[in-house]
Amino acid sequence: MLLRGKSRIYSCPGGASYPSLPDIASLPLEARDTPEFQQSAIRRSGVQISGHLMNFKIEPVAQDARRPKPEDESKLGFGKIYSDHMFMMRWTPNTGWTDARVQPFGDLTLSPAALVLHYGQTIFEGLKAYRNPRGSVNLFRPADNAERFARSATRLDLPPVPTETFIAACKALLDLDHEWIPRSHGSSLYIRPTMIATEPYIGLKSASEVLFYIITGPVGAYYPEGFNPVKITVCEDYSRAGPGGLGGAKTGANYAASLLAEKEAIKAGFTQVLWLDAAERRYIEEVGSMNILFKIDGKVITPPSSDTILGGITKYSVLDLLRSWNIPVAEERLTIEDVLQAHAGGRLEEVFGAGTAAVISPVGQLNYKGQNHDIGNGETGPLALRLFDEIIGIQYGQRPDPFGWITEVVLGSNQP
Ligand SMILES: Cc1ncc(COP(=O)(O)O)c(C=O)c1O
Repeated sequence: MLLRGKSRIYSCPGGASYPSLPDIASLPLEARDTPEFQQSAIRRSGVQISGHLMNFKIEPVAQDARRPKPEDESKLGFGKIYSDHMFMMRWTPNTGWTDARVQPFGDLTLSPAALVLHYGQTIFEGLKAYRNPRGSVNLFRPADNAERFARSATRLDLPPVPTETFIAACKALLDLDHEWIPRSHGSSLYIRPTMIATEPYIGLKSASEVLFYIITGPVGAYYPEGFNPVKITVCEDYSRAGPGGLGGAKTGANYAASLLAEKEAIKAGFTQVLWLDAAERRYIEEVGSMNILFKIDGKVITPPSSDTILGGITKYSVLDLLRSWNIPVAEERLTIEDVLQAHAGGRLEEVFGAGTAAVISPVGQLNYKGQNHDIGNGETGPLALRLFDEIIGIQYGQRPDPFGWITEVVLGSNQP
C-alpha cells in the first residue's frame, strides 16, 4: 500500500532505484510505525551500516504546518533561512550510530554542561544542491564532503559517519524539502552537516554522547551584482592554525581564531584576510573560507593541503580542470615574498580564491605591510572567469561532467 501508485524513482547508494517517497503525511501515525513503513523507509534511504540496513524514521511536518518559501529569490542571501526538516542521529560507544530520523527543523535541547559548549568538540561540512534542467537535483562531489567530514571527525576524536549514510541523509532531506530548493540560476540549497559533543560533563575529555545533524536552507547567488574582484589583506598579527593543530579539519575553532582578524580587515576596507603560516609568517596558507591560487608565469600554484590548510573540494576541482586544459599546476608552498616578487616583475597574472560558497573569487588587490598591490588592474582575470563558468555549468547540469563529480538526486513526485 505504501508504495502503490508512485511511478517516480528515488536514487540510492549502489545505483539501484526505488519507489519515491509515499505520501507520508496522509498516513496515520500508527501506520508509520509498521514494519512495512519502516521497510519502505529503508529502501528509500538505502543506508547500510556494518552489514545492516539502517532505518531512517521520517517524521514529516504536516503539509499545513510548513513554512512559506521565500518568494523573492534575489533576496535569499546566505544562512538565514532554513528548510522544514532536519536529519538527526545519535552515537554512544555502546550503541554506535542509532536513532536516525528526519524530523521537523527545530531547536536542540542541550545541557549547559554539554562538552561542545566548553571544549569545542564539533565539526561541520558545507555543500550545495543545484536544480538541473532535467528537473532533478545535482549534488557536487558529496562523497568528498563525507570523506572530509570523516577525517575531521577523526582529528577531533569524534565518531566518523559512513559516507553512504551521509549521502543518503542529504538525499532524504532533498526529497522531503524539494520545494525549498531555489529555482533561479546561481541560487541553491545549502546543506550543513554538523556533529557536536552532547555529553553533559565539564571535565575535559572526548564525549561519549554525540549528535550528528543536517540542516539545509536556500541561499542566493553569491555574485548578484556580478563577478567582482575582492581586496584581501595579509594578516600579520594573528595565526589561524599551527602545525599539528586543527587547520586541516573543518571545526569551529579555526573559524573562531579568524573572526577578530576578519573584523579588523573589514574595518580597514578589505573583504577577507590572507593567512600566513603560524611558525614563520611567510608561507601562504588560505583566505577566510577559501583556498587560494596564484597564476605566475603561466603556471597555477596553490599551497598543498596540510594540517594547517583545509583540503578544499573546489580547489581540487580547479586543479583537475586546469590539468585537463593543459595549464601547468603545482601544489607547492610559496611565500608572500615570492608572490610580491612575481608581481613586481610583471609575472603575477591572476590570483583567485576557490570554495563552495563563491566557487571562484577573483582577487583584485593584495595588501601587505600597509602597501596595496593591484592585480590584473583590479579586474577579473580570464582564467578565473573560465573556471567559474565551467564549474557552475557542471554544478547546474548545463555542461558535461567529464570527471563524474555530480550525484544526481531524482526527486519523488508526491511529497509528504
Ligand atoms: C577554511 C576553508 N578553506 C577552504 C575552503 C574551501 O573548501 P571547499 O572548496 O570544499 O568549500 C573552505 C570552505 O569550506 C574553508 O572553510
